[in-house]
Amino acid sequence: MRTAWISSEGRFIREFESQWAAYCGMNHGVAVSNGTTALEVAVACLGLTPGDEVIMPTFTIISCALAVIEAGAVPVLVDCDPRTWCMDTSQLEAKISPRTRAIMPVHIYGHPVDMDPVCELARQHGLLIVEDAAEAHGAEYKGRKVGGIGDLSCFSFYANKIISTGEGGMVLAKSDEHAERLRSLRNLCFRQDRRFYHTELGHNYRLTNLQAAVGVAQVEQIEEHIRRKRWMGKSYTERLRELPQIELPVEEAWAKNVYWMYGIVLADDIDYDAAELAVRLRQEGVDTRPFFLGMHEQPVLQEKGLFADEHYPVAERIARRGLYLPSGLTLTEEQVETVCKAVIKVLGRRG
Ligand SMILES: Cc1ncc(COP(=O)(O)O)c(C=O)c1O
Repeated sequence: MRTAWISSEGRFIREFESQWAAYCGMNHGVAVSNGTTALEVAVACLGLTPGDEVIMPTFTIISCALAVIEAGAVPVLVDCDPRTWCMDTSQLEAKISPRTRAIMPVHIYGHPVDMDPVCELARQHGLLIVEDAAEAHGAEYKGRKVGGIGDLSCFSFYANKIISTGEGGMVLAKSDEHAERLRSLRNLCFRQDRRFYHTELGHNYRLTNLQAAVGVAQVEQIEEHIRRKRWMGKSYTERLRELPQIELPVEEAWAKNVYWMYGIVLADDIDYDAAELAVRLRQEGVDTRPFFLGMHEQPVLQEKGLFADEHYPVAERIARRGLYLPSGLTLTEEQVETVCKAVIKVLGRRG
C-alpha cells in the first residue's frame, strides 16, 4: 500500500507468478483475475477456429465449457470415473475427431486425473492439454504436481481454494509463445510497439499487486494447508469407512489427493437422494454443499443445441447422490467428530 503499486504492476505479481510456476514445475506463470478468466485466456491462446473441439469431463464447473464456447469452439464430453470422480480417460479415444484440438482434464475435489493416457493420446493425435487444477493445488500424479503436466494449466485462488488471494487465478504455460500470448490477452492486447493501437481483441483480466502480495504469503504456507487437508481427509475416512451407506473419496496408488473437498456419495439402496441428505444433516446442525451437475444437464448449454440425447450415467448418479461435508482449512478435530456423528446418526435411520 505504501509503495502505491496497488494495481497490476509491481513486484508481487512477478514474484507470485514465478513462485507458483516453480512450485508446480512449469516455466511461466500469468496471474489473472480468477479461475474462470484463467480458463478463458488459456483456451483463447490455443488459436481455435469455429467448430474445433475440446474434450472435457461433463462433471465439472461451467467455467470449462464457457471458455471453449467463448473461443468459438465446441465442448465434447466424457463421463467420470466412479472412484475418483475425475474424467474417465478410457472414454477419450472414442471422442477424438478430426476437429479435436485439445483435452481439458479437471482434477476434481483434490484428486488428480489419471494423466498418462491423456498425455499418450495427446501425443498420438497432436493435441494440446489444458489442465484445470483449480481444486487441486499441490496434488500429485506419479510424483509430479498437477498443473505441471499439460501444455497449459489453470488455477483459481478463490476464498475456498487451498491457497487464496480473495479472488484470483493463474495460467501456467510451458512454452514462451503461449506465455507471451496469455500476457497480451490478459491486458487488452496492447502492442509493445504502439500503445492504444490494437490488432487483436483482448480482455482486462489483470490481478492486482495487492492480491499477489497475499498470494506470495499464501505460497509460503501451502505445505501446512495441504497437511491440514490431508489430515481432514484421513480423519473423515477413519470415522466413516465402516458405513455401507456411503462411498468415500479414494486415493489411487499413483495419486496424492489433497482433499480440497471431502465428498460422499449415497449408496443406491438408500431411498433418498443427496438433496434430502443435506436437509437431514442440516437438521443436525451440519451444513453441506451439492456436487456439480454435469454440463450435458445444464439448460443453458442444451438451449445452444449442445449434448442432445447424451447421457453420462456416472456423472448423473453422483450429481444426485453426492455432496460434500465441511472441508475448510480451519476445521478442528472436534468439528470433524461432530460432523461424523451427525452423518452416522442420519444414515443409521432408515427411510
Ligand atoms: C474446477 C474449477 N475450475 C474453475 C473454477 C473457477 O474458478 P473461479 O471461481 O476463481 O472463477 C472453479 C471454481 O471453483 C473450479 O472448481
